[in-house]
Amino acid sequence: MGIESSCDETACGIVRDGHEMLSNAVLSSMDLHTVYGGVVPEIAARSHIESIIPVIEQSLAQAKLDWKDIDGIAVTYGAGLGGSLLVGVMTARTLAITKNKPLYAINHVEAHAYANFLTSTSLPGYVLPAEPPKFPCLALIVSGGHSQLVLFRDHFDYTLLGQTQDDAIGEAFDKVAKMVGLPYPGGPSVGQAALKGDPHAFNLPKARMTTVSPALQDLRSQILDLRKDKQNKNSEIRDLRSEISYDFSFSGVKTAVLRQAQALCGQDFTFASKNLPGALSEAQKADIAAVFQRVAIETVVDKTIQAFEEFSPASVIIAGGVAASPELRKQLKERLPIEINYQDPKLCTDNGAMIATLGCFKAMNDQPTADPYSLEIQPNLSM
Ligand code: KG4
Ligand code: ZN
Repeated sequence: MGIESSCDETACGIVRDGHEMLSNAVLSSMDLHTVYGGVVPEIAARSHIESIIPVIEQSLAQAKLDWKDIDGIAVTYGAGLGGSLLVGVMTARTLAITKNKPLYAINHVEAHAYANFLTSTSLPGYVLPAEPPKFPCLALIVSGGHSQLVLFRDHFDYTLLGQTQDDAIGEAFDKVAKMVGLPYPGGPSVGQAALKGDPHAFNLPKARMTTVSPALQDLRSQILDLRKDKQNKNSEIRDLRSEISYDFSFSGVKTAVLRQAQALCGQDFTFASKNLPGALSEAQKADIAAVFQRVAIETVVDKTIQAFEEFSPASVIIAGGVAASPELRKQLKERLPIEINYQDPKLCTDNGAMIATLGCFKAMNDQPTADPYSLEIQPNLSM
């Protein structure tokens, strides 16, 4: 069983052997946040308290299972909103003790990638990939809180190639949506508005990053050593060490959208962004949505292609809320030389099944369990 409460979704899913989804119950407090244009932490936490037990019961009922059938409980302990994480973690700790089950502490971002291992279900309304990802696997994880490229060599053996240095891509979608008066969450509403706009109506800058993490430097040195070794036996292999940065930045493009929007309605930089929705025409909003979406998605696709060329993974996966974007799926299909087995969009946004999936793989790979008497939340947990 996987329990998720890191942001505005209260969710519980049950997964067998890391690939078969038996249930996936999700209750979102999104509607309560829409009027504020973003998630309000106190409202989210209160809503988790009301929803968590009903969602767990719903998940067991959907799977037609009893507590005796559950082998272990996995719970998101980070990253996320403190008050929200606490509800899931305290519930899971209590259940692990009272139901006498092993407890697994799950990294939310890692779990997003693991949603791609779900390949079968008898639940109606899902279209799952036919095969699980193959290692080495390149994962583009793009959500409201994260934008990362990760190279998985195997389960629990990965290198974070790069990540955002400021806003996450989903956060940028949400902020641009708010700026032009489109509803929260911004990803789907910008995507919808973009259908009526011209993606080349104007241009927006893409950030040029130069930062390379020590982990990526290490990985490159290891690959270089391997290649040198082979070179001794086979003189054809050249030194292919690359200096590309896989970090992202989305705060610049967001400010560029603001300036462009102000210019489009004949104003200068002093014009308050809260007045933009009333000043822009529907056609201008659609163009802003289309150009922003194209450039933001191109930014992550460019880096995914570069990482694919540098590391030659056996598979590529996309994960996180923004992985539901049809534009991202379209651009990757056009530019990647291999096919991606896309996961059902309902399993890209926050859910409990992805938490249960990673929990299964932890159990199957003898990863350590968490102490139900002391597991703490880690709001800033990274990969
Ligand atoms: O993974 P997620 O549900 O929560 C976090 O872990 O952050 O991702 C939520 C983010 C939001 O920023 C939302 O605007 C974006 O995912 N999103 C989308 C789509 N659906 C959700 N972005 C683009 N296209 C979508 N269809
Ligand atoms: Zn998420």
